[in-house]
Amino acid sequence: MIEEILRLKKEKEAIILAHNYQIPEIQDLADFVGDSLELARKASQVKDAKIIVFCGVKFMAETAKILSPDKKVLLPDLDAGCPLADMAKYQDVLKMKEKYPDAWIVSYVNTNADVKSISDVCCTSANADIVVRNVPAKKIIFLPDKNLCWYVKQKVSEKEIICWDGYCFVHRKFTVEEVKKAREKYPNAEIIVHPECDPEIQKLADGIYSTSGMLKRAKESNSKIFIIGTEEGLLHRLKKENPEKEFYSLGSGKICPNMKKITIEKLYLSLKEEKYEINLKPDILEKAKVSLERMLEYV
Ligand code: 13P
Ligand code: SF4
Repeated sequence: MIEEILRLKKEKEAIILAHNYQIPEIQDLADFVGDSLELARKASQVKDAKIIVFCGVKFMAETAKILSPDKKVLLPDLDAGCPLADMAKYQDVLKMKEKYPDAWIVSYVNTNADVKSISDVCCTSANADIVVRNVPAKKIIFLPDKNLCWYVKQKVSEKEIICWDGYCFVHRKFTVEEVKKAREKYPNAEIIVHPECDPEIQKLADGIYSTSGMLKRAKESNSKIFIIGTEEGLLHRLKKENPEKEFYSLGSGKICPNMKKITIEKLYLSLKEEKYEINLKPDILEKAKVSLERMLEYV
């Protein structure tokens, strides 16, 4: 099947983009693997390919479509959603906009396209603090992840930031107990966690990074052992790119079932039958593009 995927990819002039949480087999055959920010940037720069097959969750494929509207963007499984993104509903965001007319809506890229279309700017976990610091507003409505919002508040104390009440159920599974046990078992290890983890976990960690930030930190740090507080799919790249270092999941490995919905078979069928195509209403796409492109200008 992998051979067929490679053949179809060439024949159809397709490019495969994959998120760091994808299964190892998909990461290994993708043309590009990255975090949300890197994938958004890559999607905006695709020139030669006619088709982008996106191995990730739906909001990421939508982002690729918004930034590369003339390409055919395929998501191998339409059910690969993100429950966090669904926690900010269009009507509720509109109400907040009305309540705080002088605030800027800063939307984490983990939002649906309609919400991006009524946001002022997007951000990812790799640039959230930079974006919030630089927008020309004192008051910010940050959505939908309250933990990433907490992280931003620690970094950008000069702004008034209103946090949305959303969370990622995968990252909220990490416990203080797991951090304590990891410290006991690996006293020399560096514990790095994602900003979607609860504040209690962030406070106990040695560093807080997006998935690409963790890859960079693992490469640059002198530590030999790392405890990773994010979805366990990232361990594949961490180990592959740093064979001389050791990586362990914080506590029991945490899995995002939506990211794991993309399989080799579904990727093969996606390329073969050119499904499932991401299409957005033109007005939603145009407006969402403004908030995404504004983000790419800030960082
Ligand atoms: P990154 O942008 O850090 O890869 O995170 C995406 C995500 O969905 C985290 O759960
Ligand atoms: Fe969404 Fe959480 Fe899965 Fe990331 S890990 S895609 S935020 S559910």
